[in-house]
Amino acid sequence: MALEFHPLHSGFGTEVRGLDLSGPVSEAEWEAVLRAFHTKGVVVLRGQRLDEAGHVAVSRRFGPLQIHVLTQFLTTSFPEIYVLSNASRDGHPIGNHKEGLNWHSDWSYRAEPAVGSLLYGRVCPPEGADTLFACMHLAYEALSPEMQARIEPLHAVHSYATYYGRAFADRTKLTPEQQAATPDVVHPLVRLHPGNGRRALYVGREVVKEILGLPPEESAALLEELNSHAVRPEFIYRHRWQEGDLVAWDNRNTMHQATPYDDAKYIRIMHRTTLAGERPVPAVMLPDAA
Ligand code: SIN
Repeated sequence: MALEFHPLHSGFGTEVRGLDLSGPVSEAEWEAVLRAFHTKGVVVLRGQRLDEAGHVAVSRRFGPLQIHVLTQFLTTSFPEIYVLSNASRDGHPIGNHKEGLNWHSDWSYRAEPAVGSLLYGRVCPPEGADTLFACMHLAYEALSPEMQARIEPLHAVHSYATYYGRAFADRTKLTPEQQAATPDVVHPLVRLHPGNGRRALYVGREVVKEILGLPPEESAALLEELNSHAVRPEFIYRHRWQEGDLVAWDNRNTMHQATPYDDAKYIRIMHRTTLAGERPVPAVMLPDAA
C-alpha cells in the first residue's frame, strides 16, 4: 500500500498511513517519513506494534538519542526509553506521572535542547490524557510586526530547577548530580528552524524564568503575553491517543502539553525516546556571540 499523508491541522502536522514499522520499511518510505517530520512538525503513525527494541530502532532513524536525567524512570533494558505512567511495580512507580502538564518543548532547559521526541502509546486511558501540540511558526507569524521586532533580539533564561520546583513541589528534591546536569541556560525568544528557515516563537510555561535585560515586572508581563499567545486555539492540534500510536514531534517548531486523566480509574503507560539536541539558531545574534 502506498503511503498516505493526511493533515492533522491546516498549518502543521501529518498522519502517515500505510506503514507498519514492525516490518520492512524501504529507504524511500523512510525518506518520506523523515521529510514529513522536518516539514510538518508533528507526525502521527497509528496502529503500530513496536516492542522496546523496535521503538528505539525506529527512533534512531530520526537521529541520535539521548538519555533522560531522571534515570529512575528509564526502562531496564533500554535506557533510551523514558516512561510516563501512573503505574507501579513492586511498590515503585515505573514512570514519571503528571509530567508535561505545562506547555513546553522537550529539554529547552538544556544548552542543546532535544531536536524531537517520539512518544509511543502502550496503555492509553479511553478518556482524557490527550496531548496538545501548538505550532510555534504559526504563533510567531501571527504576532504584530511591532511585537516581532521587539522580541527578535531578546533572550530568555530556561531553568529546569524552576520547572521542577513548580511542577513537582511535593516530590523529593533533585539530587546534586541532577542539579549539576541541568544548570540554567539562555536561549533566543525567536529561533530559526534550520530545516525550513522559518522563525518560531521559543517560550514555555514554568520553564522560562525571565527575559534577559528587562526589569522583572516587564519580563513577567511579556512572558505572560507570549505564553498565552503561543497556545491560542487556532495554533493547536489535539492528539487523542489509541494504543499503538507513535507520535514524533519536532521541538524546534512546536510546543506540547499533556492533559489530565482519571488516574484512580485508568492506567496510562507511554514510552518516550528523545532525539539528541542542537543549539537553537537565534533570529538575531547576541552582540558577544556574533
Ligand atoms: C511529554 O511532555 O513528553 C508527555 C506528553 C504526554 O504525556 O501526553
